[in-house]
Amino acid sequence: MNNILFEPISIQGHTLKNRFTVAPMTRRSATANGVPTAEMAAYYAAFAKGGFSMIITEGTYTDDLFSKTDDHQPGLVTNEQLEGWKMVTDKVHQSDPNALFILQLMHGGAIAQQTDKTIAPSAIQPRGLRNTEPGGLTGAFPLPVAMTKQDLADAKEGFVQTALRAVAAGFNGVELHGANGYLIDQFITPHTNVRNDEYGGSFRNRLRFLIETFEAVRAVVPKDFIVGIRLSESKVNDLPYRWPGGPDTAQAIFDILKELDASYIHIASEGGNWARESLYEDGTSSNGIAKRITGKPVIVNGGMHDIDLAARLLSTQEADLVSIGKAAITNPDLPNKIKNGAPLAPFFKELIKDSLTLAHVEQQLNPKAVC
Ligand SMILES: Cc1cc2nc3c(=O)[nH]c(=O)nc-3n(C[C@H](O)[C@H](O)[C@H](O)COP(=O)(O)O)c2cc1C
Repeated sequence: MNNILFEPISIQGHTLKNRFTVAPMTRRSATANGVPTAEMAAYYAAFAKGGFSMIITEGTYTDDLFSKTDDHQPGLVTNEQLEGWKMVTDKVHQSDPNALFILQLMHGGAIAQQTDKTIAPSAIQPRGLRNTEPGGLTGAFPLPVAMTKQDLADAKEGFVQTALRAVAAGFNGVELHGANGYLIDQFITPHTNVRNDEYGGSFRNRLRFLIETFEAVRAVVPKDFIVGIRLSESKVNDLPYRWPGGPDTAQAIFDILKELDASYIHIASEGGNWARESLYEDGTSSNGIAKRITGKPVIVNGGMHDIDLAARLLSTQEADLVSIGKAAITNPDLPNKIKNGAPLAPFFKELIKDSLTLAHVEQQLNPKAVC
């Protein structure tokens, strides 16, 4: 057993019993109206029972304008969705009253999947293709409409109202999904943001939408309510993408984000391999730079079911927590298994190779779910 992974840590005044977090994973198991189901309650409660100290939900849409990204994605916009989420949070808190349950707030922007009308920072054709879904739209994404100032205000308000509903639904916090190529990331990324107003151009301008959204959410939720931020280099529609400038870009981004009162910074390795996606040639890593510059708790991701690697990153001060994605699907009790020296369910090493895309992975694990 790697003891460092079982040491407690404090986030925004909450004590977590260990360093294991469930990574956000889209499951597409809500109703067609985006209402969480009993199946979802059981799915999330299993992680609390299985020893995870923090569980981050699948990306959840924030308004009924343009944010929804997938069919059967949950939202937290309507009263019916709020009631559905209450059922889920109750079950999770009953399973482990100390496990923190965090709602991921997600706006798809230009790469919302099942619509022909999308908005984005700029009217730029997205790279890549839509996910293949039975009976769904396929092929290239539509050309998005460049967001007006009113669209920006509406999108921010969606995040704020959804965060308030998350408080009412019994969540312990929210995570702003600024990773993987979705709306917030589209603002950060130079080739999807060619705006010439105060939201485009310099690092500070490209981070402005994230910063303003974060500040607006932080201002309305209770002091001990967690507000985390997730970022990544790779994108679901462009897995090889890396920040131009590598560590220099990481430094520039976190030099600005350190000003925020973020509860944590979560660095995603979308393709599932930390060494390939977060480690730089000079031996530094985006998560290590985030931790050194911001001084905030950092969650590292991408194959962290490799427990020796996970423990090494924590003991070398490159991260504070790990988030586990695919391995948690078949091992919802992963922390308890590690603690007891029990073997993990053998899906990962056998089925998943680095060259496989998440869509391939999903076909093998569960044909209903996509990333
Ligand atoms: C089925 C599936 C759905 C995902 N959905 C989301 C999501 O909704 N939000 C998000 O930020 N990342 C999402 N991801 C990315 C994961 O959070 C994680 O970054 C990735 O799987 C790498 O971690 P792992 O190696 O532990 O699986 C998804 C990944 C998978 C496999």
